[in-house]
Amino acid sequence: MHLKNLNWTKKEGVALLLIDRSQQLNALNRNTLAELESALCALAQDDAVRVIVLSGAGDKAFVAGADIKEMAGLDPLAAAAFARQGQKILAQIAGLSKPVIAAVNGYALGGGFELALACDFIYAAEGAKFGFPETTLGIMPGFGGTQKLSRLVGANIARELIFTGKMIDAERAATLGIVNRVVPAVDLLEATLQTADTIVANGGVGVAMAKEAIGKGLDMPLAEALAFEGNLFALLFSTEDQKEGMRAFIGKRPAVFLHK
Ligand code: CAA
Repeated sequence: MHLKNLNWTKKEGVALLLIDRSQQLNALNRNTLAELESALCALAQDDAVRVIVLSGAGDKAFVAGADIKEMAGLDPLAAAAFARQGQKILAQIAGLSKPVIAAVNGYALGGGFELALACDFIYAAEGAKFGFPETTLGIMPGFGGTQKLSRLVGANIARELIFTGKMIDAERAATLGIVNRVVPAVDLLEATLQTADTIVANGGVGVAMAKEAIGKGLDMPLAEALAFEGNLFALLFSTEDQKEGMRAFIGKRPAVFLHK
């Protein structure tokens, strides 16, 4: 499907979703955010898609942030609506029953870093750069960056990155636990799609419930999160995937999951 600033292709259970405004380093204007929201809605409902890989068009940027030229003229109410629009996409990615993997192929700055952080995990190209330059523009992150980064790497690292506005490279992001894997730029999509294929081969209901347990559990006290996990674990014993997965193991053959 082709929208103005977004396109996606599908192959064997994996959708590759590209933000495509490369002349502006894929900066997120309101139209691109609206397209992203509708694309995620469509992919959520598409049973042929089980994993989404999100990346940026071109070889320079994943997303270089919210569109500064569009943001420059916003009044406070419009800025609040813009932040809500960005944060809604974060919530949409978290609420999807399908994993979303960010393949960061260059700059992931501001809203672009936030978008990557909203994904289930991040692979990055050597040479990719991450940062929150908002304070250099006289503002602060508004699509969840202050909260997501602090929860992921701790408040002090988040403070340093956000207060200084300085970028870090992919290797440092990996050391901090922001990026799971760094690969040469030419191999990024291939490596990310391979991991997506591995996930697609597994029981889809188990993957979806594991995503829910991790995502929601992080916001709960541990005892409550463990009870939540136990309930989802129990629920999986009502699925065909559980029966097939265990039958296949015992029968020494590969499982063929129906994802139900
Ligand atoms: N918004 C709008 N346009 C942008 C953009 C952005 N975030 N980032 C890049 N562009 C545009 C540039 O204006 C330029 O367009 P023109 O050719 O029409 O002038 C084009 O993309 C190419 O960019 P550069 O010429 O600047 O490329 P460069 O290689 O010299 O520099 C860069 C690359 C360091 C990423 C630089 O473009 C840059 O600093 N971009 C802005 C990054 C930024 O501050 N992002 C945070 C935005 S605020 C935010 O995201 C708030 C939030 O949390 C919601």
